[in-house]
Amino acid sequence: MFTPSAAWSNLLVSAIALAPLASAVPCSSCSPTPSTSPNSTILPYLNSQLCIQDRLDDLLSRMTLEEKAGQLFIKQIPAGINGTIDSTTLVLDQGRNLTTAPLINEKLLSHFNVNNALPAKQMAEWYNRIQRLALETRLQIPVTIASDPRHAFADTVGSSIASGQFSKFPESLGIAALRSPELAEQYATIIREEYLAVGIRSALQPQIDVVTEPRMARSGQTFGEDANLTASMVVALIKGFQGTELGHTSVTTVTKHFPGAGPARNGNDSHFATGKDNTYFGDFLNYHLIPFRAAIAAGGRQIMPSYARPIGTKYPEVAFGFNKPVITGLLREELGFEGIVVSDWGLITDQAIIGVIEPARAWGVENTTELERAKMVLDAGVDQFGGEIRTELIVQLVIEGHVPESRLDVSVRKLLEEKFLLGLFDNRFVDAEAAERVVGNPYFARIGNETQRRAYTLLTNKQDILPLRPTDGNKFYAQGFNSSYLSARNLTVVDSPEKADFCFLRTATPWEARGSPFRQRYHEGRLDFNATERAAHSALFNSCPTIVDILLDRPAVIPEIAEEAAALFGHYGASVDAFLDVVFNKDGWKPEGRLPFEMPRSMEAVEEQVADVPFDTVDPLFRFGHGLNYTRPALCS
Ligand SMILES: *[C@@H]1O[C@H](CO)[C@@H](O)[C@H](O)[C@H]1NC(C)=O
Ligand SMILES: *[C@@H]1O[C@H](CO)[C@@H](O)[C@H](O)[C@H]1NC(C)=O
Ligand SMILES: *[C@@H]1O[C@H](CO)[C@@H](O)[C@H](O)[C@H]1NC(C)=O
Ligand SMILES: *[C@@H]1O[C@H](CO)[C@@H](O)[C@H](O)[C@H]1NC(C)=O
Ligand SMILES: *[C@@H]1O[C@H](CO)[C@@H](O)[C@H](O)[C@H]1NC(C)=O
Ligand SMILES: *[C@@H]1O[C@H](CO)[C@@H](O)[C@H](O)[C@H]1NC(C)=O
Ligand SMILES: *[C@@H]1O[C@H](CO)[C@@H](O)[C@H](O)[C@H]1NC(C)=O
Ligand SMILES: *[C@@H]1O[C@H](CO)[C@@H](O)[C@H](O)[C@H]1NC(C)=O
Ligand SMILES: *[C@@H]1O[C@H](CO)[C@@H](O)[C@H](O)[C@H]1NC(C)=O
Ligand SMILES: *[C@@H]1O[C@H](CO)[C@@H](O)[C@H](O)[C@H]1NC(C)=O
Ligand SMILES: *[C@@H]1O[C@H](CO)[C@@H](O)[C@H](O)[C@H]1NC(C)=O
Repeated sequence: MFTPSAAWSNLLVSAIALAPLASAVPCSSCSPTPSTSPNSTILPYLNSQLCIQDRLDDLLSRMTLEEKAGQLFIKQIPAGINGTIDSTTLVLDQGRNLTTAPLINEKLLSHFNVNNALPAKQMAEWYNRIQRLALETRLQIPVTIASDPRHAFADTVGSSIASGQFSKFPESLGIAALRSPELAEQYATIIREEYLAVGIRSALQPQIDVVTEPRMARSGQTFGEDANLTASMVVALIKGFQGTELGHTSVTTVTKHFPGAGPARNGNDSHFATGKDNTYFGDFLNYHLIPFRAAIAAGGRQIMPSYARPIGTKYPEVAFGFNKPVITGLLREELGFEGIVVSDWGLITDQAIIGVIEPARAWGVENTTELERAKMVLDAGVDQFGGEIRTELIVQLVIEGHVPESRLDVSVRKLLEEKFLLGLFDNRFVDAEAAERVVGNPYFARIGNETQRRAYTLLTNKQDILPLRPTDGNKFYAQGFNSSYLSARNLTVVDSPEKADFCFLRTATPWEARGSPFRQRYHEGRLDFNATERAAHSALFNSCPTIVDILLDRPAVIPEIAEEAAALFGHYGASVDAFLDVVFNKDGWKPEGRLPFEMPRSMEAVEEQVADVPFDTVDPLFRFGHGLNYTRPALCS
């Protein structure tokens, strides 16, 4: 016997109070010169009693050209072992190898992204060490740390990064599958709290590319195929991360990849030359702008252009980061975006990634020099160069008169204003002991675990086989699962399907391994299983009633599984425990997800659809929004 729990929403009793969003003091509410005991030894820009615009004016007036150039770059660095400043990872800079420390005290960078995960306390200690290093620079400009998404459950690290101790949700597709802006805001609020605890103040998300090309390689971290659904999600996420105004407990957002990386030709990823084209043969560019308009209206602070270049529009066929009519014309003038534009990583310099030299993503302007590329990016209206440290190019552009220093000031002012608004100048350290308590705390982890369960999307359920009854004596055969783990969950596991009452098959959307190890992180190519794999699946399905559990990081083309398996689940990143709880309806857990994209019936249908147009595969296997409910609870034995 077991008792189904109350509805999930009744479980959401906050175990710890979320920090209220405090916003920065606006200029109107503080006097330029504090009346009470001014400390004449504090420089105006370091004086928290002055208003931000005055502090910015003061700081900018003190900066050398080199110090300004340093602000224009954000570079990935690792958090060092045991929370130390990493001294092993080398980046080549003009024939010299640099580590973290000289990036701060020689190149004068103050923006970094970190993608590895340490235990929370060490992560916070690392962050504090980085800030202490920055305090030793001439102007003491605090460091801003950014991160790619790191809150998804993953068996293996893919294009989102290791979650370590952070709470584990499904990928953002799973948030979209639940269709709830309230949940999306709560999700972002939890990420914000965990980021704040370790000093991460910039989220390199939401990724609001609309998946109109089913093969699009980075679909997993999007909100799917529907621009309106994506728009409702991005508004909720920005509210959760930033609050209504950017303040001392906000995390700033970098909405990406403008103007939408969905229409990738053949789905090939735009990190690589074979994926440089976005095609707009359906004339649907405006559809992809819907979520960006929503993000701008919601006050999203930063936007990242896509690597790709547009084919089939009125715009020049050069990568969006170099594309002045797109960045200045469309994004700034037409859509009215006044925030920071940060380029995607590596537009200028060829760089080694996991041991392989990857070319600069200067798509359509490959033959330009590095200096010309830097100028084009600035001229396009981009404020900051991602994944680069080429400060000397900026200095040269100004000294040689190609770019006026006032152009740098426009971007530097915005970038520093962000630090002031986030409160980094006034409160630059975090409490490492508190980080240990906040990150992955039982309440946050539970919401993540619950969301993994709820996002489960039930695609087929022949003869209502699900939910399985928790009958003692049933025998299970499992592929793609750790059998010892299932045994530890008190299931009787047998070693062949013939001996089993039920079989479980856990798999993932097919993809083609192409090229370098880095490229293989982006799942490209066919979405269907090959003949060998299909034969093996059929043999299993013919031997025993099989529950298939497929990771949908792209819309799989699996008509034969829908036809032959006893039941088919899609998930978007979920633990084995989440799967079992949903399969057995344990504590009342049931699939609530609805497909965030349509699932095509064949690769021919995929090849025939138009890359920029949604919902246009012929006779899809499952439509957008498909998702069955359990029609009965699991019965007691
Ligand atoms: C003034 O600021 C300096 C530097 O932050 C500090 O060391 C000193 O104690 C302050 N003096 C007063 C009177 O607040
Ligand atoms: C990290 O900390 C552990 C435990 O204190 C210690 O044994 C190890 O030597 C440290 N590693 C490094 C590289 O400092
Ligand atoms: C920089 O470091 C890399 C990786 O260790 C090494 O292969 C290369 O030779 C170094 N280059 C210089 C100039 O020291
Ligand atoms: C999206 O929303 C717009 C404005 O509300 C509406 O006109 C349009 O039909 C919607 N599109 C879809 C696919 O729901
Ligand atoms: C996509 O990548 C594959 C594999 O590298 C290549 O064969 C194909 O031509 C690419 N498509 C385009 C449009 O470049
Ligand atoms: C770049 O130069 C190569 C070799 O000179 C040429 O084949 C190619 O078309 C040029 N590419 C562009 C975008 O101009
Ligand atoms: C979340 O799920 C994981 C994996 O099943 C489990 O180990 C962990 O205890 C769960 N945490 C909470 C707070 O429920
Ligand atoms: C499989 O599960 C068992 C029991 O939980 C665990 O000890 C073991 O490490 C797991 N193996 C793998 C490869 O994850
Ligand atoms: C498995 O069964 C044992 C013995 O009845 C029980 O103590 C344990 O809690 C069960 N474990 C799970 C994961 O249900
Ligand atoms: C089918 O895919 C598997 C990987 O799952 C691969 O090992 C095998 O070589 C492929 N077979 C054919 C015929 O392409
Ligand atoms: C499934 O249940 C939800 C919530 O009760 C309901 O809105 C939806 O219409 C149901 N779907 C189907 C296919 O019955």
